Amino acid sequence: MNFQTVTLPRLKVLITEAQIQQRVKELGEQISQDYQGRQLHLVCILKGACIFLADLIRHLPLEISMDFMAISSYANSLHTSGEVKIIKDLDTSIQGRDVLIVEDIPDTGLTIDYLARNLWARRPNSLKVVVLLSKPARRIKLVDTAYVGFEIPNEFVVGYGLDYGEKYRNLPSISILQSGVKTPPCRIEN
Ligand code: IMP
Ligand code: MG
Repeated sequence: MNFQTVTLPRLKVLITEAQIQQRVKELGEQISQDYQGRQLHLVCILKGACIFLADLIRHLPLEISMDFMAISSYANSLHTSGEVKIIKDLDTSIQGRDVLIVEDIPDTGLTIDYLARNLWARRPNSLKVVVLLSKPARRIKLVDTAYVGFEIPNEFVVGYGLDYGEKYRNLPSISILQSGVKTPPCRIEN
């Protein structure tokens, strides 16, 4: 049994596994160049970005360390509210470090805006953001993302770490969930 033979009728592939792997490799090369000779501290936003992080770090021939943060956002019927709750905070201080936030997908941008402000307050030496996907159509907050994997249309997507109700994170490609789902469910576990 494989993912092709399992019937997933509501899913339409948007970005294939091969396209993701190629782009993650390119992002890794770009980040490695930019941080050459420096120690990079990656902050992965759970859970959506964990597969992206796992693949990305294998294209970073640098001295790296990593930490994890888990957050949840609250949404109304149209968009996330920007009210973000930290479920799991970082284990170590980021003061004076070169930090790269690894996030799955900014939509309104409220979550990443909150995170960036929260982490800046902890006085890192530098703070940048890498996102696997970006959905600019519904952006409310301008997100200063240094590295973007793919810009996608205003569709709800799943796979490669991204979920809908905790399902589909294990799909190797990224697919549009076809059921008129254009807005996230009420409470989002990232
Ligand atoms: P924002 O605060 O509106 O930018 O929402 C960002 C968060 O919502 C992301 O970290 C995801 O967890 C979730 N999200 C937004 N769009 C999608 C999507 O298309 N698929 C899966 N999760 C999404
Ligand atoms: Mg999610």
